[in-house]
Amino acid sequence: MTTPTIELKPSSHPLSDAEREAILANPGFGRHFTDHMVTIRWTEGRGWHDGELVPYGPLSMDPANMTLHYAQEIFEGLKAYRRPDGSVATFRPEANAERFQRSARRLAMPELPVDTFIAACDALVQQDKAWVPAHGGEASLYLRPFMIASEVGLGVKPANEYLFLVIASPAGAYFPGGVKPVSIWLSEDRVRAVPGGMGDAKTGGNYAASLLAQAEAAQKGCDQVAYLDAVEHRWVEELGGMNLYFVYETAPGGDLKIVTPELTGSLLAGITRDSLLTLAKDLGYGSEEGRISIDQWQADTENGTLKEVFACGTAAVITPVGRVKSARGEWTQSGGQPGEVTMRLRKALLDIQTGSGEDVHGWMHEL
Ligand code: PLP
Ligand code: COI
Repeated sequence: MTTPTIELKPSSHPLSDAEREAILANPGFGRHFTDHMVTIRWTEGRGWHDGELVPYGPLSMDPANMTLHYAQEIFEGLKAYRRPDGSVATFRPEANAERFQRSARRLAMPELPVDTFIAACDALVQQDKAWVPAHGGEASLYLRPFMIASEVGLGVKPANEYLFLVIASPAGAYFPGGVKPVSIWLSEDRVRAVPGGMGDAKTGGNYAASLLAQAEAAQKGCDQVAYLDAVEHRWVEELGGMNLYFVYETAPGGDLKIVTPELTGSLLAGITRDSLLTLAKDLGYGSEEGRISIDQWQADTENGTLKEVFACGTAAVITPVGRVKSARGEWTQSGGQPGEVTMRLRKALLDIQTGSGEDVHGWMHEL
């Protein structure tokens, strides 16, 4: 397979420095987009071709484009950070590239070579470097690589043409208001993914499947939904866009460990989740993958062995869970405050990502 070269076409309407700075002062999440985007095409028999870095703008699409009907779509999310010396680096892009390949396989789409994925992200960040927020806070440039089918037709089959794109959006905090514990609705009836389904692929359909439960959670006064396994409706899986971690005391007053639901195939293998399994050990905590039932979640909170719960993901970084609600009752987690382990891990992760701390695991990809 040939790796396409990415040609640079000048931007027709770049924003002025003043307009860009006004956006960077309060970027929000996913509301503003940079001046350029990358596009690469795939055609059956020809492979990947026509890589271009072009002005950001609308796509023209036939109404019978297969993606609009049968949802052959996958995406990724990763961040570029400004370092203290002004340089820019992305966090573990090869892990995103590899997950993108796994998602592609699950949806019968072509696999983009890892090097091409990284080169496409690098090209966009290089071109739109001025959009990477200043070092000092938690702001970053969020990259959204994605792939859609581009064949036109209504036959149900894997398409014979695809379009890969990368767009970028400056990101402040995912949850406005800073590190504030979120409340969780434990969904005992609606599921996000099933065994043998697409839960471990990053595809738009999984997010569509989560929206009704999310709206119901909001009606019940909760910020996020925690999904359970689809068979026994008992085992905790993840949130709609984040993995979960449980901070346990191994003995009264003894060592602490963090436990995350094991990868059963119906939850996403988060890159933040994976990084924290390692980072926890650096900070002297145990870390493991396991099974946690909702009964255990409640009982261990009440008996005091479960000290903290937090959610993690690229967009949300690490966010404490302060309250949990389900049809059977509700309880406060960690006194409704951000826990000490949660906040230590959060700082350690952000220090590596922003270049304030040493990148001991070689996770940062410098441009
Ligand atoms: N789970 C889901 C469903 C997600 O959408 C995300 C976000 O990407 C995550 C978990 C966390 O994954 P990562 O840490 O790779 O961003
Ligand atoms: C990410 O964290 O990158 C995600 O894709 C989550 C999404 C719901 C914004």
